[in-house]
Amino acid sequence: MLKLGVNIDHVATVREARYRGQTQGEPCPVEAVRITETAGAHGITAHLREDRRHIQDRDIWAIREAVTTRLNFEMANTAEMIDIATRLKPEAVCLVPENRAEVTTEGGLNVAGQIDAITATAQALGQAGIEVSLFIDPDPEQIEATARTGSPFIELHTGAFAEAYDDKAGRAAEIERLAKAAEQAKALGIGVNAGHGINYENVRALFAVPHLNELNIGHSIVSRAITVGLGQATGEMLEQMAGYDAG
Ligand code: PXP
Repeated sequence: MLKLGVNIDHVATVREARYRGQTQGEPCPVEAVRITETAGAHGITAHLREDRRHIQDRDIWAIREAVTTRLNFEMANTAEMIDIATRLKPEAVCLVPENRAEVTTEGGLNVAGQIDAITATAQALGQAGIEVSLFIDPDPEQIEATARTGSPFIELHTGAFAEAYDDKAGRAAEIERLAKAAEQAKALGIGVNAGHGINYENVRALFAVPHLNELNIGHSIVSRAITVGLGQATGEMLEQMAGYDAG
């Protein structure tokens, strides 16, 4: 069965747009954990970014408390995040590159270019009982390098696939790249997850990629929730406003 990890970062993005610097506000990421798990999500993903633009430190601890499935903690390979992860004890960590100027995680990790640093982190997290995954482009060199770090999982970056989706030849080429990467990882004994830019329209095209364990999906699910929920939210506000007497 293909598993779904719901990335709830953008629930916090919406809250921070109104309540930045405050210690509470809506929408609440913990409520998002409860709702998505009740709906059948197999896991929850949250990314504590260095700039704390969406998920805050208090969120990640509250999310840890609330998650009853599996918590996949996305983080950059920094001393601060390694310290948090070893205390937080998520079921999984996905190491991602972080660049302050980016809107979201843009490219995969250059594992081959920082093999020693990533190996040390993968070993430290592995020893703490955390399953490590490296977020990489579907590139043979990066998969080979992942095997050398001892990381048990990769998360294949599906951003290029999502961008090429509307172009038939481009889509086919990206699917082929992802499929070859998944085959290579499988042959090396590495588990395969995938994520970034997956939405309701393109998700089934990924059925052509073998050996997938889990898809991590955030933006499209949070966006869809806004779209399908906006009518009800408007109706509930009108109910609250009913009965006003202007005197
Ligand atoms: N996987 C990783 C490693 C990511 O960095 C992101 C984006 O935060 C996602 C999955 C989810 O991407 P999207 O929000 O486009 O579904």
